[in-house]
Amino acid sequence: MKTLIKNISSLVTIDAQGKKALVGKEMQNISEIKNAAILFDEKILWVGTNQEANEKLEKKEISAEKILDARGKTIIPGFVDSHTHIVFAGNRSEDFARRLRGVSYQQIASEGGGILRTMIATRAATLEELVEIGTYLGSNALKHGTTAIEIKSGYGLTLESEIKQLQAIKELKKILPLRISTTFMGAHDFPPEYKNNHQKYIDLLCEEMLPKVAEENLAEFCDVFIDEGYYTIQQGEQVLQKAAELGFKLKVHADELSSFGAAELAAKLGAVSADHLLFISDQGIEALRKAGTVATLLPGVAYFLRMQYAPARKIIEKNAICALASDCNPGSSFTENMQQILSLSVTNMQMSCEEALVASTLNGAAALLKSNQIGSLEIGKSADFSILNIPTYIDLFYHFGINHVESTWIKGKMEWEA
Ligand code: NIG
Ligand code: FE
Repeated sequence: MKTLIKNISSLVTIDAQGKKALVGKEMQNISEIKNAAILFDEKILWVGTNQEANEKLEKKEISAEKILDARGKTIIPGFVDSHTHIVFAGNRSEDFARRLRGVSYQQIASEGGGILRTMIATRAATLEELVEIGTYLGSNALKHGTTAIEIKSGYGLTLESEIKQLQAIKELKKILPLRISTTFMGAHDFPPEYKNNHQKYIDLLCEEMLPKVAEENLAEFCDVFIDEGYYTIQQGEQVLQKAAELGFKLKVHADELSSFGAAELAAKLGAVSADHLLFISDQGIEALRKAGTVATLLPGVAYFLRMQYAPARKIIEKNAICALASDCNPGSSFTENMQQILSLSVTNMQMSCEEALVASTLNGAAALLKSNQIGSLEIGKSADFSILNIPTYIDLFYHFGINHVESTWIKGKMEWEA
């Protein structure tokens, strides 16, 4: 159905003019239209001022079956949350409480908490249970303005349980209106069975798990956690190279806990994105820029683990592609609310409101290789957006900690309403 929304106080279109992402100073230009109108069916058909819309309606240059009024409201492209782990089982609130008392993430992990605690619960869960939690968290994301999301496996760490997680993600594609991208992350950690023989698990990943996931077409991306205490550069490279040979696109959890050279490896392998980057080096930033690898920042982690934030200013000023995502997971950033992530990015990473919007929409779409379809409200792109109950996009940052989304639309259809 052709719908026209009129009288929009502030319409953020992010007119990228065919670019897959915006970098550096370009990120300041979000192409806001005040007193705007937007016409769409499944796709965006037209955007402009309200006055232009009225003239066009009168001259019959445009027509609509339905006309809505958005007086006092703001419309922004749907958030593209390009990094999450929302399919898991169990609860890590005990770990969280211990961390608040000063115990480090690594210390907790070495004592059997951390990823391995979630692994045990995820292995024990049924497919239905995993689908249930994924549906709950994915629906929350939708309510907070997310229209596209990436979900990783990586809490099973056996062939069978990794496949179970990937199948749960496949089910979510049928249940949730969100656009879902899937990532295989069997190399999230080493399972306890291979504690003393990491190479044997890497062989299992390369010879059995990756080929099986590829054969069943269960994931588009492969991700590896390359950091101190997890996969080394050599181990990560081995897994990622095998994944690339099998046709996976690559992502890397890079330089999250230490300056490890993982961003440089991501760039060398032509990864689509390198994520986290709290400890990225200057060479790492330059390597990402050169390779066109998206630097995906996840400020929920620094907040939740009380660590230093990624050097967003440097990354933007050096013209690397900067995206923002939630990293929603039970251990290091338990939120599915991208508005919260945007708030953290401006208060703690010195990003501007405009940069935060571009990073969480168009540049997030680039991190999922989807910016030709989504991430901005340009003619021909999918009508994926949210209507916010605020008069300007600045209010999204100014009035923090509450949900401003009044409705979320995907492919021109209202999928959630407050
Ligand atoms: O993205 N860094 C590795 N993986 C997750 C944390 C997983 C967990 O603690 O459960 C992350 O931060
Ligand atoms: Fe992650």
